[in-house]
Amino acid sequence: MDSDVNLDKVLEILEERVLQYTGRYLTEAEIAVIKGSWNGKDYKEIARDSGYTMQYLQAGVGSPLWTMLSKVIGEGVQVKKLTLKPILLKVVKKDYLKKLKALNQNDDGLVGKTIMYGELPKVGLFYGREKDIKDLKYQINVLKQTCIAITGVGGVGKSLLIAKLIEEMLLEKPDTYEYIIWNTLTRYSSVDEIVAKLIKNFNLNDGNKNFNEKISLLSNHINTHRCLIVLDGFENIANVKNFEQKLESEDFFIGLTREPHQSCIIVTSQVPLEEITYVTKKFSFLSLRLEGLDERSAIEMLYEKGLSGEECKELVETYRGNPSELEVVTDRINRFFGGSIKNFFKYKSTVIGPRLQAMLNQQFGQAGFLNNLQKQIMIYLAEEISKDSSFIPFSKLVDGLKERLNLELSISELIMALEVLEQRSLVETSKKFTKQEASYSLEPVVKKYILADPLGLVYEQSSKTKISNSSY
Ligand SMILES: Nc1ncnc2c1ncn2[C@@H]1O[C@H](COP(=O)(O)OP(=O)(O)O)[C@@H](O)[C@H]1O
Ligand SMILES: [Mg+2]
Repeated sequence: MDSDVNLDKVLEILEERVLQYTGRYLTEAEIAVIKGSWNGKDYKEIARDSGYTMQYLQAGVGSPLWTMLSKVIGEGVQVKKLTLKPILLKVVKKDYLKKLKALNQNDDGLVGKTIMYGELPKVGLFYGREKDIKDLKYQINVLKQTCIAITGVGGVGKSLLIAKLIEEMLLEKPDTYEYIIWNTLTRYSSVDEIVAKLIKNFNLNDGNKNFNEKISLLSNHINTHRCLIVLDGFENIANVKNFEQKLESEDFFIGLTREPHQSCIIVTSQVPLEEITYVTKKFSFLSLRLEGLDERSAIEMLYEKGLSGEECKELVETYRGNPSELEVVTDRINRFFGGSIKNFFKYKSTVIGPRLQAMLNQQFGQAGFLNNLQKQIMIYLAEEISKDSSFIPFSKLVDGLKERLNLELSISELIMALEVLEQRSLVETSKKFTKQEASYSLEPVVKKYILADPLGLVYEQSSKTKISNSSY
């Protein structure tokens, strides 16, 4: 990322600091030395490019410049020609973070020339996701994707990832966007409301326009002004069964992404966009499914929170690297088990964090999220894997469900249901041997939720045959 940082921006920030400290601007020769050093040039090359003599640049400019910059930057940092770039990168980063923080405090405002609306989640300690961020930047900056959907279970880190992405993009290519809008959606949000908010943010006059006219107004605006729009938590937006709402959000997305432009809409959602929006060929978007943190980053996170030892790996595996789940369980281990993962495992306890629980409550409780067959599959898997095996082969699943439901099962329906569950990261498939029959399992936390059924949402309508003494 660092190589992308814009040098002019760096100079601007540095010059401001130098001015404050010394009361003067940087000289032309000093700027030449800074620019050259930033680009890895030696004095000879800088001299050739700038027309000054090498001796002058080295002794007359460079040497006092490093001393002065060391003082300006402070904190005991010794600026030298070779260390200039990493030091300046840090300075710029701090400067931006400061601006972002100030922004969070008074909600809307300016970062550089970018007008920002909405409250981004605060990025504190952030682990891993280097590749995701790199890929996203490529999709946005190079391929000019107009719509990207990030899906994944609750608490896996979708919102934080996008906040981090925005932070880095602001840092590397400031002023790229005229607007950055973060819209956190709740159960009470609607497409109409999103549209109205955007119109207000862009300061457009919607008069008495109808829905479609408002969409073209918006479309026009984001075609001519570069905007980054985040719709965070899109799963909240609609009852997935309501076809009219689906059509409305399709109109919204088609209207805003049909023509190639420099703006981008990022949607985060616990369920794939296809399930909330009526998607036809006219609406093309990139869909990325976010999994937990990779093992190395997750272990780093555990270390940082005071856990250590061989068992970290197992803990990460149990919680599938889900950062918010790991945070909750780490807290428990520290509080109740003196920081010993081994002792925690001895009690065969599985902790469900509030975010994942909220998500599962929604999936099981809210009409339209999981149909009866999908629920039955999950219950069957939970009960079976709690007996002995970790993965249930497809054929066993078919037979077991037939018996359980006491009816003829359409295989194509079953396959479709499994696909949906997999897309929502609710079931796991074994993909170790591609030639083998597919087999299915549940993440331990999901299994625990189903068997414990904390709110009575799982077993309530779907079946009365809750088994009582399973081990979990
Ligand atoms: N990459 C990460 N590094 C450190 N902590 C993370 C990371 N991603 C998520 N978290 C933690 O998990 C919590 C949930 O993340 P969030 O982005 O809100 O999940 P989602 O939007 O997928 O529901 C965050 O508040 C943070 O504490
Ligand atoms: Mg979120």
